[in-house]
Amino acid sequence: MPWRRWGSVFLVLTPLMSLMGVMMFTLYLRLQAGRRVTGHSNHISDRQWADRCGFRVQSDTFTQVAGSKTLLINAFREHRTDDASVRLLGIVLQKEDALWSRCVFCCQEEGKLVTVAAKRTAHPSNYYFDYGTGDFLCQIPLGCKPRYVGLVSENGEDLSNLTFLPVLNQYAPAPSRLPLNYTLCMPTLFNSYDNVLQFVQAMELYQLLGIQRAIIYKTSCSATMETVLQYYSNVGFLQVLPWPIDSHLKPSSNWLPSLSPGDIHYYGQIPANNDCVYRNMYSSRYVLMHDPDEVIMPTGNVSFQTLMSDLETAHGEKVNFYFPNNVFPLEEKVENSKYDLPEWKHLPGTNFLVHTLREMDNSGLNSGKLILDPRSVLQMEVHAVQAHFHQGRTEKISSELALLYHIRRRKDSQQKRSNLVLDEGLLKVAQALVPRVNRALSYMGLLNTTTGPATRRPKP
Ligand SMILES: *[C@@H]1O[C@H](CO)[C@@H](O)[C@H](O)[C@H]1NC(C)=O
Ligand SMILES: *[C@@H]1O[C@H](CO)[C@@H](O)[C@H](O)[C@H]1NC(C)=O
Ligand SMILES: *[C@@H]1O[C@H](CO)[C@@H](O)[C@H](O)[C@H]1NC(C)=O
Ligand SMILES: *[C@@H]1O[C@H](CO)[C@@H](O)[C@H](O)[C@H]1NC(C)=O
Repeated sequence: MPWRRWGSVFLVLTPLMSLMGVMMFTLYLRLQAGRRVTGHSNHISDRQWADRCGFRVQSDTFTQVAGSKTLLINAFREHRTDDASVRLLGIVLQKEDALWSRCVFCCQEEGKLVTVAAKRTAHPSNYYFDYGTGDFLCQIPLGCKPRYVGLVSENGEDLSNLTFLPVLNQYAPAPSRLPLNYTLCMPTLFNSYDNVLQFVQAMELYQLLGIQRAIIYKTSCSATMETVLQYYSNVGFLQVLPWPIDSHLKPSSNWLPSLSPGDIHYYGQIPANNDCVYRNMYSSRYVLMHDPDEVIMPTGNVSFQTLMSDLETAHGEKVNFYFPNNVFPLEEKVENSKYDLPEWKHLPGTNFLVHTLREMDNSGLNSGKLILDPRSVLQMEVHAVQAHFHQGRTEKISSELALLYHIRRRKDSQQKRSNLVLDEGLLKVAQALVPRVNRALSYMGLLNTTTGPATRRPKP
């Protein structure tokens, strides 16, 4: 009896079809939810995932926390604490009461929101300025796999304006499996930075030494410097991170409020340093922390890699290395240097190959720089690790092994030319460096190829 057969088929099919209908409708809703953000794509992207939580995602360097003076920079998965946590790094007003700050986690694909208490730490390295680095540590709720997190303050109960930050450092590979060995973090360029020649020399020198990537935070620089930054970004060596701190705070261009008043030390050099350390925690074995007018060079006839593996053998893992400062004053030039090249004369900036006279450091101040094992660092300062993680420590490296060369204006005005020491350590690399610098300048269209005999002609 056909109708019966069809009837039973119908009986079976009806719930099946309803089920399929429900599934299709759910899928349709999900796609629609996705379309709200990207307009297409039927798999769940990071941004769509955050959109499930119904909030916007960070699009600028700094995220202002509503009802607070805090500016968030980035959020990082913290793999080193006993409890799985996320650390939000930012700039905080030291004296602000932020006892009731809360993290808002966006968990899983369905966008479940979970709020937990945040533990704020204002880092003590603020050099007497009102603002400084701070972080907010939040324990990840059980069963939550957060890819985004937001922060609310005591006075920001209204979640409607909450901005989410992606949680970086999701994975923590073993030290032996990190993608890079040597990353350099440089602090902020500001006041229309224009030290073109020295910057190009430094970028080439760093690559010659074996540094694999450099990162720089940029507030402002000259048009010529833009060309230089673009070139090194294009070749894949340099990452330029925007740092528009002057649109949020009044930054000081010095290290003490008495020397240059403002809200924060040196255009926020310290929070930028901390951001760089955390960003590279799981991408680089070592992180070098110094300015583009500085370089750490082995003293003997060994490569930078040999220096580092010797230091590692001598001191073990979880160790940071401190290199005392050596100033080579810009005011003192060696006469008739063969590196005073005519094709560089028209470029703004310093030629560091002609400054080989070194000040003796009698200051007793620790103004040297560091090479870090970033996983051993909790808080970074300018010249020191402010707080180590667990058994982390810092070792001072003797000048017999390596030197920090710092080519800058005179630091100790008591020392006259006759007090300075000739130190040609940097010239070891000059032969290899000059052609590299010229090739790079030539690609940038900044090499003066019409010089030569004219400028070499002896003066009457
Ligand atoms: C949310 O943002 C809008 C526009 O930026 C602003 O007018 C409003 O006051 C904000 N609300 C809260 C609670 O901060
Ligand atoms: C890092 O250095 C080790 C030797 O210490 C080497 O085997 C490895 O290939 C290097 N990795 C990179 C990415 O350069
Ligand atoms: C430095 O070492 C290399 C081999 O590692 C050698 O070829 C070169 O001659 C040495 N230079 C000096 C100045 O000792
Ligand atoms: C290049 O050098 C020549 C000769 O010294 C000089 O006349 C010319 O102005 C220089 N060009 C630039 C762009 O500086």
